Amino acid sequence: MSGEDDGTVVRRERFSGGPARSFLSSMSDDERIFAADLAVDRAHVVMLAEQGVVGGDDTGTILGALDDVEAAGFDALPDGEDVHEAIETAVVERVGRVGGKMHTARSRNDEVATCIRYRLREDLLSALDSVRSLREALADVAAAEAETVMPGYTHLQPAQPTTVAHWALSYEGTLARDADRLLDAYDRANESPLGAAAFGGTTFDVDRERTAELLGFDDVVTNSMDAAASRDFLLEAVAALSSVAVTCSGLAEDLVVFANRGFVDLADDYSSTSSIMPQKKNPDTLELVRATAGDALGAYQGLATTLKGLPRAYNRDLQRATPHAWHAADAVTDAAAVAAGAVATADWPAEALESAAGEGFATATGVADALAAAGLPFRTAHEIVSLASERSDTTDGGADLGAVDAAARDVTGESLADLADPEVVAAALDPVESAAQRDSLGGPAPDAVGDALVAVLDGIDADENAVAARRETLSEAADKLETEVVSYV
Ligand code: ARG
Repeated sequence: MSGEDDGTVVRRERFSGGPARSFLSSMSDDERIFAADLAVDRAHVVMLAEQGVVGGDDTGTILGALDDVEAAGFDALPDGEDVHEAIETAVVERVGRVGGKMHTARSRNDEVATCIRYRLREDLLSALDSVRSLREALADVAAAEAETVMPGYTHLQPAQPTTVAHWALSYEGTLARDADRLLDAYDRANESPLGAAAFGGTTFDVDRERTAELLGFDDVVTNSMDAAASRDFLLEAVAALSSVAVTCSGLAEDLVVFANRGFVDLADDYSSTSSIMPQKKNPDTLELVRATAGDALGAYQGLATTLKGLPRAYNRDLQRATPHAWHAADAVTDAAAVAAGAVATADWPAEALESAAGEGFATATGVADALAAAGLPFRTAHEIVSLASERSDTTDGGADLGAVDAAARDVTGESLADLADPEVVAAALDPVESAAQRDSLGGPAPDAVGDALVAVLDGIDADENAVAARRETLSEAADKLETEVVSYV
């Protein structure tokens, strides 16, 4: 049974062939929204039945056919311009013309917009899982390495001693905001365009709130033209994913540099060797994490450029917008998960880190602080330490107490002992002391990091709950839809 006469072809022949057929088709990208489309079809048909638009028997027939199509799988779908058309064709192939009632009061325009939002929710939650595992790994490092002093850098030059914990929490802080951005993107994507039809609404008495409820959306996108045409939710999601990618790229770069200097020992699982140089252990996974920013930002650029200047309402350009978002979601979710694994399995060689922590006279700021705390104007203290630094070999620890004393005499005419307690200044010259003394809110001192860690762990828990609550809402909606479907089949 096939052909127009039997009503088994969704699109008439004149639209189904031609040399541009495969160019027109989105089937190769649409497997990703196969499950979404089935859910959207079911919710729509259930709503049509409830509204008296489609009779109960026909509804059962269509829903039964959809179960069949689902069981046969994506690969068994007939050829089609896209998954929406193919599923409808598959339904009509199974049950004949009555299957055509499924597309009452809707268009592929609201259908595809709904499918993308439906699927994107799952992808954003997966991205949030990966980001959270990276945050947990960083928090674990912070707990374990609170006392491990390391060099802190500006301009990639030794700047001040810090701790591994302080470094780790610096990335956790950024990732916490990245997670917020992903949740915001989720909440704005989680509104239903279904029922907008092509863009102009419909003459049928559709219940848009009901389909939104059955699909787990928080609300509807009210204006039907906005609902069918807008993809700002994709742009926002890819922007949030790009921010994660940018954060991860910095983290990866740090780890590559640290590995190079012997400050971190990456697990073999996250390293790679050379095919020719037997001695090599390269941080390849982290280089790939670093590179993923290119994927995400490229996707953002591709998406934004595709959307820019599109007139209302629907244009086929939108079909090529969607895959940018899938690519970003996959790349970033994988990269964050791999970064989490690399961080969780890395070793921090405390001795090497501590002995490097004073390199480049990184304790200089603390020495100036000690002089200023003793009563000197900070600018004078800065001048003294700067002179001491110039006269010392900063490739190693830099100035010693004697050099500071000599510089103090030259700048102020007074000895160090007259200006400050030399023991306090000597302590400031020690990298471990230097880090421990910077105990201001959010500073590297072990106590300050310990306090910060409490709030960090609370934040990670809260985000885990936020993700779980959204998953729960989705699974309750899926159950509700399933119950409705079963009542007709
Ligand atoms: N595959 C298409 C997309 O992703 C479906 C919408 C086609 N609509 C149309 N009016 N030609 O956008």
